[in-house]
Amino acid sequence: DTVYLNGEYLPLADAKVSVLDRGFLFGDGVYEVIPVYAGRLFRFEDHVVRLNNSLSGIRLDLIKSAAEWQAIFQPMLDSSKDQYIYLQITRGYAPKRDHGFPEPIVPTVFAMCSDIKPFAGRVSGVKAVTLDDTRWQMCHIKATALLAHLLLRQEALDQDCAEAILVKNGYVTEGAASNLFVVIDDELITPSKSNEILPGITRDVILELAKTNQIPYREDVIALEALENASEIWVTSSTREIVPVIELDGKMVGIGKPGPVYQKMDQVFQAYKQ
Ligand code: PDD
Repeated sequence: DTVYLNGEYLPLADAKVSVLDRGFLFGDGVYEVIPVYAGRLFRFEDHVVRLNNSLSGIRLDLIKSAAEWQAIFQPMLDSSKDQYIYLQITRGYAPKRDHGFPEPIVPTVFAMCSDIKPFAGRVSGVKAVTLDDTRWQMCHIKATALLAHLLLRQEALDQDCAEAILVKNGYVTEGAASNLFVVIDDELITPSKSNEILPGITRDVILELAKTNQIPYREDVIALEALENASEIWVTSSTREIVPVIELDGKMVGIGKPGPVYQKMDQVFQAYKQ
C-alpha cells in the first residue's frame, strides 16, 4: 500500500504527520474523493475544479493543474481494478497551536488509493432517516472537518439506516455524505447548488444523463412534505454511485423497491462510467 505524502511515495505505515498539523488540531483542510475506473480518473477535470474552489474557500493557496495532480496519482493506480483516490490538503504544520493562520504556510498534501467495494444497497435499496441539518453554512466546501456529518451518519446507522437525509427550514438539502434526488410525478428533482450542499460530481453526471436520455428533470427546492410523498428517492456519491432509498423514516417509499426511473438512470450511469 503505497501512499503519497508531501512529494514522497511511502508505505502507508511509514506516512507520518506531526501532531501539530492543523489538519489534526483543527480539521483545517479540504479533500477530494475521485473514482478511478480501470485506471481512468472519472470526471477528473470536474474534481480538480471543485478542489480549487474548496482551497480558495478556505483561503489556502495551492494550485496544481489536472496534469500535475494526475502525475502525482499515477504511480498508485492499478488499472486491473476500480479504485478511488482520497486526496487531503491541510494548512500544514505550525510550530504552535494558534487559531490564526501561520506564516509561512506549508500545506500538507496526502493522497492514497483504495479499492472501490461495490455497495450492496445500490441494487437492493436502503433505508434512510430524516434528520435536522446541523451543519455550518459553507457546505459547498469539501472540508475535512466532518464532525456534524459523522454524527448525522452515525445517528442514521444507529437507527439501522444507510443514510441521513438532512432537513433545513422545512426543506431537504442532501445526505450526510451524498446528494439527494427525488422523483415526483415522473420528474427527477434535485436541490440547486448553493452553500447548503456539496456540488457533487455524481450529481452533475446524473443531470447530464437525464438530459441526454430525455428524462424530465429540474433543479428546485424539495420540501420535507414533498420528500415524504415522492415515488422515488435516491442518494448519490462517488463511492456508492446511485443508491435508491426504499424506506424513509420507517415508511415505504413508492412501492418499497427501487423504482423505474432509478433502474433507467443506474443503467445509463453504469454504461457511462465504463
Ligand atoms: N462524499 N454531499 C456530501 C456532504 C458528500 O460528502 C458527498 C461525497 C457528496 C457527493 O459528492 P460526489 O458525487 O462528488 O462524491 C455530497 C465523499 C464520497 C466522502 O466524503 O467520502
